[in-house]
Amino acid sequence: MRPDEAVRVAKMLEAAGCAGVEISSGTIAEGLAIMRGPRIPTDALLAANFKLDAVPGLFKPGVARILPLLTPASPKPYRLYNIDAARLIRKAVSIPVSVVGGIHTLEDASRVIEDGTADFVSMSRPFIIEPSIVNRYQEGRQEASRCTMCNYCAIMIEKEPLRCWNGRIPKRA
Ligand SMILES: Cc1cc2nc3c(=O)[nH]c(=O)nc-3n(C[C@H](O)[C@H](O)[C@H](O)COP(=O)(O)O)c2cc1C
Repeated sequence: MRPDEAVRVAKMLEAAGCAGVEISSGTIAEGLAIMRGPRIPTDALLAANFKLDAVPGLFKPGVARILPLLTPASPKPYRLYNIDAARLIRKAVSIPVSVVGGIHTLEDASRVIEDGTADFVSMSRPFIIEPSIVNRYQEGRQEASRCTMCNYCAIMIEKEPLRCWNGRIPKRA
């Protein structure tokens, strides 16, 4: 879906009575395009992806080496990647617009609201690593999420409860 099509869909949602829209960039089926990040989450894919966890242990180190060559890289930029679409859509509708995607610092979140890009900012991975991050922003105790955009959280949920893995799967005893 391109931004002009998303504008048309947003108008249809408004006409249908939706209270607001959130601007994302696809569903979880889009993988690294929706949850962007600087590296291929090889270990997590080998541990939890339903296609790759069937690879026999003996072959996993080899697969780990070739996987980055086979897996499409996450598109750039890694931050603020739905901002332009949100701006377009906000101009086209009167209902509140929220935007999500790589908005991980207090400065970026504030700017998105202050410059009128959106009415709300949403965050996903920052809440997984630090559920109290908004309180910490409000209290002046923190200004940026510690999320490294490793994306292990999203891949590992195929097998494990949701949590921040911070780019590493601990060896089990
Ligand atoms: C663990 C996890 C599960 C997600 N599940 C969905 C989903 O079911 N549908 C969806 O549209 N986006 C899903 N997302 C994408 C987020 O809504 C969001 O667009 C993305 O993580 C980028 O925002 P962030 O930089 O604040 O994490 C998921 C993201 C994570 C990390």
